Amino acid sequence: MTGLARGLAGRTAVVTGGAQGIGAAVAERLCAEGCRVLIYDKDAEHGRAAVDAWLERGHEVRLAVGDVTDRAAVAAAFTGLPAGWPRPTLLVNLAAGFVFRGLEATAEEWHAALDPTIVGLSLVIREFVAGLPNRDADAAIVNMASISAHIAQSGYLTYNTSKSAVLGFTRCTAEELAPRGVRVNSVSPGTVWNANNERYHREALGLDRAAAEAAPEHGGKFLLKRFADPSEVAAPIAFLLSSDASFITGADLPVDGGYLAV
Ligand SMILES: NC(=O)c1ccc[n+]([C@@H]2O[C@H](COP(=O)([O-])OP(=O)(O)OC[C@H]3O[C@@H](n4cnc5c(N)ncnc54)[C@H](O)[C@@H]3O)[C@@H](O)[C@H]2O)c1
Repeated sequence: MTGLARGLAGRTAVVTGGAQGIGAAVAERLCAEGCRVLIYDKDAEHGRAAVDAWLERGHEVRLAVGDVTDRAAVAAAFTGLPAGWPRPTLLVNLAAGFVFRGLEATAEEWHAALDPTIVGLSLVIREFVAGLPNRDADAAIVNMASISAHIAQSGYLTYNTSKSAVLGFTRCTAEELAPRGVRVNSVSPGTVWNANNERYHREALGLDRAAAEAAPEHGGKFLLKRFADPSEVAAPIAFLLSSDASFITGADLPVDGGYLAV
């Protein structure tokens, strides 16, 4: 299924948080588009397993293990690409701080929420931009927001604030990087059925996917009455990276089964 979106084949993409979940689906999709893909993730075990599977299928993919908040490790990941790979001109930022607290959150918890999602994001984008070959590289960045960036949710102050900041960060960097020909956008998914959500619904709520999707307060709150598969978030991300989105920058695309529409 190579070449579904225009202008991606043959390019190098970096995917932070690509070892599992939505990030792994993004990496798979970009491999299928004919990209070389560098996964940057702090989880060596999942990262190694994913990359080994993709290598076996003949994809050109590498893993760099590190935290997005570690400036030296981020820099080493960009400079350590295999010889012969073009400089990265595509970047997808999924690594995030998963902290769900209200006003009771401590300073440490705020750092755990904001440091990966915002400070780490800035370090990765700076390194990416510093290595861009030229203005005509048609470079594009997609950041990961969430429906949580757009709404209030009880007990989610830390997470929703971090995701709201991704929207502002995206608009500001779109403005700052437009003169260099770099487009910057974000996506806002609703609930995506990945391993974490599967575990949460099973262990905390005693629900399998079908039961959770049938429940009005879970899958039922989306207009489409279900959760997303990771590939349904990867596809619009591939679109935003591609030449098909050549006049889109500074935008946020809801990928939410209609949740934010009503
Ligand atoms: N799953 C959902 O329902 C959903 C909905 C909306 C938005 N999102 C967003 O999508 C993104 C991916 O979520 P997911 O559900 O696929 O998560 P996941 O836990 O399945 O995967 C996240 C990956 O990011 C890596 N990571 C986390 N912090 C990191 C750091 N500091 N440095 C490097 N790597 C780091 C983890 O090791 C992991 O491999 C996140 O930004 C999340 O906020 C998820």
